[in-house]
Amino acid sequence: MNFAPALLQALRQSAHVVVFSGAGMSAESGVPTFRDAQTGLWAQYDPTELATPEAFRRHPKRVWDWYAWRRELVARARPHAGHRAVAALERHVPQVTVVTQNVDGLHQEAGSRRVVELHGNLRRIVCARCRAVVPQTAWAPAGPEGVPRCPHCGGLLRPDVVWFGEPLPADAWRAAQQAMQTADVVLVVGTSGVVYPAAGLPLLARERGARLVEVNPTETALTPVVDDVLRGPAGEVLPALVRAAWGGEGNG
Ligand code: OAD
Repeated sequence: MNFAPALLQALRQSAHVVVFSGAGMSAESGVPTFRDAQTGLWAQYDPTELATPEAFRRHPKRVWDWYAWRRELVARARPHAGHRAVAALERHVPQVTVVTQNVDGLHQEAGSRRVVELHGNLRRIVCARCRAVVPQTAWAPAGPEGVPRCPHCGGLLRPDVVWFGEPLPADAWRAAQQAMQTADVVLVVGTSGVVYPAAGLPLLARERGARLVEVNPTETALTPVVDDVLRGPAGEVLPALVRAAWGGEGNG
């Protein structure tokens, strides 16, 4: 794979690289994206319509079951060479921040140390009413809705993820904005760039002079604003990029 010499130089000279990732980052680990076609059991549902508070109110068991299915996929998933390449950046660049829309924890599992989770984490279960974090051993049995309940207040349990129409966690949002404002290079990986406010973050970095690099097999809403377009899957492009910039294996 060929990379622009100016891109490689920008990476080598960076004091702060931000990796902004979306569902495509985890695709090669076996976690389906939101806007590519679903297969199997859930093919008939649009995931973006399951990820809403209204869906949970109207069909709590369906939403719970969909997330339970994703939790199982994620529990079996392992980080791939692209996640490891992102973690390996920390050996070459003074500061690296991963700002992710993913809720699967795979960046942390690959060894990235500074990960900002904009949309929460699927593995954490909270009470929809009192917001207590409830470990699986403490779940109270499901009532007629078919969803386990909170042992403290009896509310329905739900994954600690951000649904459409819900605010982003304030700390994560602040940390993401700060990271973008000091980034020299932002690698935009595996996101369709259509879900706001997250999708606006790369523009914030661009306004401050950062170089934006898209890693994605297909064109996205962010393609027109990036400086470099690297067409291909994250698991191939990212290790090749790290190798081209700094040599070695590229994936840690
Ligand atoms: P999308 O499903 O919208 O987009 C996935 C992107 O990944 C697409 O642009 C694909 O082309 C790309 N892609 C697929 N395979 C890839 C690979 N192997 N390597 C690199 N890229 C690949 O996912 P997001 O942009 O993350 O929010 O969606 C944003 C948010 O919408 C999600 O966080 C979720 C969703 O609804 C909430 O649940 C709040």
